[in-house]
Amino acid sequence: MIAKNAGNEMVEFDMNVEPIDPASVHKVRLQNGTMMPVAAFGTFHSDWAQDYMKDATLEAIRIGWRHIDTARAYENEHDVGEAIRKALKRGYIASTEELFVTGKLWNGHMKPKDVAPALDNTLKALGLDKIDLYLTHWPWPNVHTPGCGPEHRNPDAVPYIHEDFMETWEEILKLKKKGKIINVGTSNHTRAIMKLLLRDVSDNERPAVNQMELHPLFQQTELRRYFQSEALTCVGYMSLGSPNRPERDKFREQRADMMDPTIREIAGETGISPAQVGLNWAYQRENKSGGYVAMATRSDWIKENLKAATADILTPAQMLRISGDGTKENPGIDANNRLIYGQVFLWPEAEGDWRVLWDDSQVFETRKNYKKFKKAWKSYNDVKIETTFRGQ
Ligand SMILES: NC(=O)c1ccc[n+]([C@@H]2O[C@H](COP(=O)([O-])OP(=O)(O)OC[C@H]3O[C@@H](n4cnc5c(N)ncnc54)[C@H](OP(=O)(O)O)[C@@H]3O)[C@@H](O)[C@H]2O)c1
Repeated sequence: MIAKNAGNEMVEFDMNVEPIDPASVHKVRLQNGTMMPVAAFGTFHSDWAQDYMKDATLEAIRIGWRHIDTARAYENEHDVGEAIRKALKRGYIASTEELFVTGKLWNGHMKPKDVAPALDNTLKALGLDKIDLYLTHWPWPNVHTPGCGPEHRNPDAVPYIHEDFMETWEEILKLKKKGKIINVGTSNHTRAIMKLLLRDVSDNERPAVNQMELHPLFQQTELRRYFQSEALTCVGYMSLGSPNRPERDKFREQRADMMDPTIREIAGETGISPAQVGLNWAYQRENKSGGYVAMATRSDWIKENLKAATADILTPAQMLRISGDGTKENPGIDANNRLIYGQVFLWPEAEGDWRVLWDDSQVFETRKNYKKFKKAWKSYNDVKIETTFRGQ
């Protein structure tokens, strides 16, 4: 199998890399009792060739990954489906029942009438008749042009409007009742919008999982504990710090997790790679309550990233050096180093400040409330433009 990697080099997967027994990979129990492998293979290809993820996913299944993280937005569900079909043909898996597949409803398909067709298209492309976990990708219906720059804005973008989200959620629940979805979940939910969702659903309508950005330099411990206290399982993405994300998504202030001195020190002491330190931490942290998504192009990396979910490699003392405990003696290494700002999703009233996406300062329960806010903001903004000095 040959594919291109992030550096546009041709990569050949190494079939001599011995697979890992999938049974040795840890699982977490979701609310309804489903056992979910904690390590999920990521299929977001950034700007690279589409057929790249097909071969990488096939190689991941060969090596023993049984949880595959997909999304309509990655524009490669068919390629992932092809990888699954090939894996069946080659006997890497005997049936798709051996896989745990996560899918995500894209923002552009959140209108109630679009939800069922979106899932049907996803299932068809993946070659499945049901999906193990279906997440809302983002909490609002804002879309952007694929591959756009950080300055891109969609004038129709809106903040979180609970009334709208609940209409989407109800459609997702109908598909769960029909048996097309086994577990429902969210991604990129903040505390306030999760509170609203949990307030308005019954026990069997609650999300089982929230997928969110989590890595050693961006731990989100408080938010993660809140979700956990509500029996939600947290799955982290960009677990390695997404070192090869496109340049347009990199900002000067961001740091690289795998280059952090503590991570490298622990890697040296333990005889494992910095990647494995981060992933083993992700699996062990907070009493082994969550999971991680990681993507890789090389057979040896694909293997080491999975191996990190098979044993407690880091000692409690090493875990503490990364997590910290809020004391001066054990500060940990969290640096609030968010990698996804989400600026392309900003609505006009956010005034270009990406923090508004995450700080719950503009969350609306009803369309009427947002309309009122928008009207007042527009008057204020018009006056601001008319009256303030702009000559500096
Ligand atoms: N829910 C959401 O909104 C959301 C957002 C972002 C991502 N995700 C999911 O999370 C997945 C992971 O995020 P990501 O792919 O951006 O970041 P990531 O998994 O943190 O990083 C992947 C990159 O790390 C490199 N790498 C992998 N294993 C390595 C190792 N052992 N040693 C050194 N380098 C290694 C790979 O380089 P090479 O390419 O050279 O192999 C790859 O480009 C995505 O694929 C997607 O499925 C979800």
